[in-house]
Amino acid sequence: MSLILGIESSCDETAAALVTSERRILAHKLAGQEAEHRPYGGVVPEIAARAHVEILPSLIEDVLAEANVDLGEVDAIAATAGPGLIGGVMVGLVTAKGLALASGKPLVAVNHLEGHALSPMLAQPSLAFPYLLLLVSGGHCQLLFVEGVGRYRRLATTIDDAAGEAFDKSAKLLGLGFPGGPSVEKAAANGDPYAVPLPRPLVGSAEPHFSFAGLKSAVLRAKESGRHSAEDIAASFQQAVVDCLLDRTKRALDAADGAKALVVAGGVAANQQIRGALTELAASHGLPFVAPPLWLCTDNAAMIAWAGALRFEQGLVDGLETPARARWPLDPNAEKARGAGVKA
Ligand code: KG4
Ligand code: ZN
Repeated sequence: MSLILGIESSCDETAAALVTSERRILAHKLAGQEAEHRPYGGVVPEIAARAHVEILPSLIEDVLAEANVDLGEVDAIAATAGPGLIGGVMVGLVTAKGLALASGKPLVAVNHLEGHALSPMLAQPSLAFPYLLLLVSGGHCQLLFVEGVGRYRRLATTIDDAAGEAFDKSAKLLGLGFPGGPSVEKAAANGDPYAVPLPRPLVGSAEPHFSFAGLKSAVLRAKESGRHSAEDIAASFQQAVVDCLLDRTKRALDAADGAKALVVAGGVAANQQIRGALTELAASHGLPFVAPPLWLCTDNAAMIAWAGALRFEQGLVDGLETPARARWPLDPNAEKARGAGVKA
């Protein structure tokens, strides 16, 4: 059994956690920065990096104290080394390197996407490789065939915006506030999902990818027409996203030979309508549907510590020269999607 300290700082959540290779979460802490970013309607990288600098050390002290664990008792220190906002990634990674250097413990550099990809296993011990993963967050929208730790085949990605980005931008256009996902979901509960005709980009297409930019532009036009309530536009937008995610995931499921489960992860997986639709899709393919609890879907350090534990158990540790990376694809062999490269 190994005990791992995990650190996450790639976007606007500062987080630390202590997790064992036997799936025990001894402590996890998270500090959001919503208040700092709200005036700007989105995450400001410079503000995020400064906030991580201020908060991270005390969060690490807190998890160690709560679990009554001394740094000398952990087996390795895992930190997100990318992809993400580079200033924030650097804060977490450099902190981890300092702790590793001071304690003589190994460093495990974790890909943030691998953290999301493996997080469902932390909550669901019965989940076995390989599985089809829909990874939907603020920065990513991908379908991955997860074959094992460090073995990911990217089947699809977005050619423009990520799903969470579409939620965030639409919320801003509709004046629904930040962060966008939860505020759109809330408004949508009081709207008619078929009141506003919106496009379903790439639905039915032979290529496997996602696209959301056209949907966001259609939301803007619907808003500017003055003919619809924000609730109806939000509900229609959410329905369109559900239809897109479902169509693309179904296509991948039909093609993904041997998948033992359909799994969803990433912040957008907190959306109840998306979860419901995916549950039905998995059932129609005779597969179990696995979604982490809500707090594990959005950014957190338990998933980084858990991915770190799995890597550490396989002897995958990293040197102190390991770079922070703004971009870091999980599947380096994935073909470039049309027009993409930005979100890959
Ligand atoms: O995984 P995450 O915490 O951070 C990234 O790595 O991006 O995902 C954050 C994203 C944001 O775009 C947020 O608006 C979205 O997840 N999100 C939601 C919901 N909760 C969070 N999107 C739709 N419905 C939600 N309930
Ligand atoms: Zn994330």
